[in-house]
Amino acid sequence: MKKNIVTIVGARPQFVKAAPVSRALSPDFNEILIHTGQHYDYGMSEVFFREMEMRSPDFNLGIGGGSHGEQTGRMLIEVEKTLAAVHADCVLVYGDTNSTLAGALAAAKAGIQLAHVESGLRSYNRAMPEEINRVLTDHVSNFLFCPTDVAVENLAKEGITDGIFQVGDVMYDALLHNLSLARQRSQVLTQLGLKKGDYALATVHRAANTDDPQRLLSLLDAFRSLPTRIVFPVHPRTRGLIERLGWKPAPNILLLEPLGYFDILIMQENANCILTDSGGMQKESYLLGVRCITLREETEWVETVSAGWNKLVGVDKSAILDAFTSWHPSSGQLPLYGDGHSSEKIREILVEKLQNGKW
Ligand code: UD1
Repeated sequence: MKKNIVTIVGARPQFVKAAPVSRALSPDFNEILIHTGQHYDYGMSEVFFREMEMRSPDFNLGIGGGSHGEQTGRMLIEVEKTLAAVHADCVLVYGDTNSTLAGALAAAKAGIQLAHVESGLRSYNRAMPEEINRVLTDHVSNFLFCPTDVAVENLAKEGITDGIFQVGDVMYDALLHNLSLARQRSQVLTQLGLKKGDYALATVHRAANTDDPQRLLSLLDAFRSLPTRIVFPVHPRTRGLIERLGWKPAPNILLLEPLGYFDILIMQENANCILTDSGGMQKESYLLGVRCITLREETEWVETVSAGWNKLVGVDKSAILDAFTSWHPSSGQLPLYGDGHSSEKIREILVEKLQNGKW
C-alpha cells in the first residue's frame, strides 16, 4: 500500500519548490496537500498553482497576515488538527517561512517523520525571521534534503549529521521544467514594451528592508539614480510601506503588481541586472546567467557570491550605483545546484526509507 506524505506549503516560493517534488512523488505516494494560506492573493498563490498545473490543496487553512508569533501559532494549531484527521507517514516542508516552522513543529510534536527540503541554509543573522525558522526546522527534521555542500557543512557545525542527503536544488528542477513553457506562454516583455537588456529587474520584500522606512527609502533613491529602466514588481507588504510613505515613482521606475512564475522567469532571463533581497532570485539569476546585486548584508546562497555572479551591497545608494555601473561577472557558471533531478533523488530516498522500511 502507498504511504501518505503530507506536504505543507503556504508562501510563493514554496509552490515553486513543491511542484516538481509532488510530480516526482506521485507514482509512489499518496500526497495530501495543505496550504496554510500564508499567501492568499491570486498573484501570490493561485497563479502558481495554475501555471505549474498543481492540483488544488486538499486543505486550505486560510491563515494569512498577523504578527509572526500569531501567524505561526495559529498555523501550528490548525496543522496539528489537520494531521490528526489524516494518516500521515511523513510530513514534507520547504524552505524557511512561518508555514515551514509551523508544519515542522506540528509533525515533530505528533511524532510523525519530518522531511525538510532546502535544509542547512544559514545566513547567520538571527534577526531574520527566516533564520529562526530554518534552524528550528532542521533540528526537528528526520530527512534533511540539502541543496549544496555548504548546507551540509552548516548542519555539521550544529552537530546534525544523521539523515542528511545532498540532493541538489529543487528550484533548478522547477526552472528547467518551466523555462521553455514560460518562453512560449509569457507575453510580459511585449506587454511592457521591453527588450532584452534594456531594463533591470528589482524586488524587495524582506522584513529588514520593508519594516524600516529609511532602508526602503535608500533603496528607492538608489533605483531612481540608476542609469537604466527599473521594473519593480511590488510585494504587498512593500507596497503598503511605499503608500504609507507617500513615495511617487521616478520616471525610470515601473511599479507592477507581483508577477507569476512564468513572467518572473522571463523578466529575469532578459534583464541587464537583478536587484533583489529574495533568496530564490539570487539562485535563479545565477542559473539564468544574469548578474545579481543583493540588497542585503549577508546571504545564505554564498556560492553565488564566491562564483562571482552575486554582489552583496545592502541598501547603500553609492554601493548599489557602483556595483551596477562597474561590476560584471568575469567567469562562467559552475553546476552549483545539482543536475536538475533533485526531486527524483528525494523520491528515491523516501521510497527506500519509508516505503521499503529501511529507516
Ligand atoms: C514570506 C516569508 C519569506 C519569503 C516570502 C516569499 C516568513 C517569515 N517570511 O514573507 O521568507 O521569502 O514569504 O514571498 O514566513 N500579504 C498580502 N497578500 C498575500 C500575502 C501577504 O497582502 O498574498 C501581506 C500580509 O497580509 C502581510 C504581508 O503581506 O501583511 C507579509 O506577508 P507574510 O506572509 O507575513 O510574509 P512575507 O513578507 O510574504
